[in-house]
Amino acid sequence: MWLAVVLGLMALAGWLLWWWNDIWYGLMVSFLSSERGTKLPPGHMGLPIIGEMFTFLWYFKFLRRPDDYINHKRQKYGDGIGMYKTHLFGRPSVIVFSPTATKYVFRADDNFILEWPNVELVGKNSVVAVHGKIHERLRTFVSRSINQPESLRRIACIVQPRMIYALQSWAERGAINSYKEIKKVTFENIGMFFASFQPGPKLDKLDNYFVGLVSGIRSYPLNIPGFAYHHGLQCRRKTIAIFREELVKRKSNIEVDGSNEPMKDLMDGLMKLKDEEGRHLNEMEILDNIVSILVAGYESTTLATMWAIYYLAKYPNVLQKLRDENMSLKKIKNEEFVTSDEVLKMKYTMKVVDETIRMANIAAIVFRTTTKDVSYKGYMIPKGWNIMLWIRYLHTDPENFDDPMCFNPDRWDVLMVAGTYHVFGGGSRICAGNMLARLQLAIVLHHLSTGYKWKLVNPDAEVKYLSHPKPEDDVEIIFYKI
Ligand code: HEM
Repeated sequence: MWLAVVLGLMALAGWLLWWWNDIWYGLMVSFLSSERGTKLPPGHMGLPIIGEMFTFLWYFKFLRRPDDYINHKRQKYGDGIGMYKTHLFGRPSVIVFSPTATKYVFRADDNFILEWPNVELVGKNSVVAVHGKIHERLRTFVSRSINQPESLRRIACIVQPRMIYALQSWAERGAINSYKEIKKVTFENIGMFFASFQPGPKLDKLDNYFVGLVSGIRSYPLNIPGFAYHHGLQCRRKTIAIFREELVKRKSNIEVDGSNEPMKDLMDGLMKLKDEEGRHLNEMEILDNIVSILVAGYESTTLATMWAIYYLAKYPNVLQKLRDENMSLKKIKNEEFVTSDEVLKMKYTMKVVDETIRMANIAAIVFRTTTKDVSYKGYMIPKGWNIMLWIRYLHTDPENFDDPMCFNPDRWDVLMVAGTYHVFGGGSRICAGNMLARLQLAIVLHHLSTGYKWKLVNPDAEVKYLSHPKPEDDVEIIFYKI
């Protein structure tokens, strides 16, 4: 008898725990909403505080099939409105997975804002941290400094010497870890086009500080020695100090207002540009933006290049077509360097770029927060909830791309369906370095395909998905000159 009671109570406690979040948030919505019958999107919110975090980790870390997290929900709850409620990263959340729902969120910018975790590490004056008119103003500065034809032409010249040198040295060594090697050359190039820093001890220090800073962004905000957040803050201070020293030196050397010289690097561009009212950026705005662009552009460019090397090794027919196109340009030019205008016009190469970034899914999820209660197709998303735009699922869903796991640049012969390709995010927050990212990748493809061949040491290496998708072996390759 007693045993039955205990078992019954345990079952009830288990049931309550399992449904706790659903009951709690469901009740909150019914009480707070003025409309009768208002409900949350379908889904399961899991255990108190933990929510569905274990399920999330199960699919990402242990099964290593992140898209099955959504597939499982689709089987259970149907496609519905393209959104599911859940509870992840300690917050009540809504996952957005369909093209229509994704477009809706990206367009309704006022209802869904971007909030970075530990934003003080990236910088409160940076483009990723500010909103509204200030954001528009900063984006214009950033975009003109790195993402528009004039800056792309300049950056194309800056990055090639180091790229070419790096590829030659890989061939001399034969066996390389491509992620580590690409990271090195990407950072050297960033040093050059951000602040004209030459490779050397200063850049090595910056690279170290940067690793600490990024770990801090993803950590719990405990400002106590020994914790990643505390270390992140210290690394940020040292990073800022290096850039500030350079900025002060430049300010004392040049007359910013009167200079009509073309911009030399990102710092120079941010110093010189003026908005419509003739205002320059202040010192902290310049420094915070340099740090935030470093955070946004360094790892992403490295991973995109690593994945290009990986897929081209796996798909030799694609490499051959890429080589043919790039060889014909090389023959016409008979020069070592290519210009941004030439590269961006190469049709097949740009299809390889877009396909690589689709398959790489560097940013698996893009986050937003609701600024007010939002109703969508009869459901309600309460104010302050976490919105997770599951953009990697858009790119791997067979309903959006035929045979989605096949690396097939020719699929870009046909226009994609709107809302299915969001590798660079969307809305007013769309990646401010998207053209630069595509250009850099295209330039590497040019030099790789015209001068080298390579093979994967571990073609069956498993892919891990946290914090970013990357094969276990960091794509080790054997690399030769053609
Ligand atoms: C393949 C490489 C890259 C990928 C996949 C990528 C992807 C993204 C994504 C998904 C976002 C968030 C958009 C959103 O919240 O909707 C973003 C934002 C951003 N990216 Fe990139 N990115 C790449 C390269 C770069 C590069 C090279 C730079 C600059 C050097 C850069 C600068 C930025 C900036 C400044 C933002 C913030 C924009 C804002 O908040 O207004 N990105 N990127």
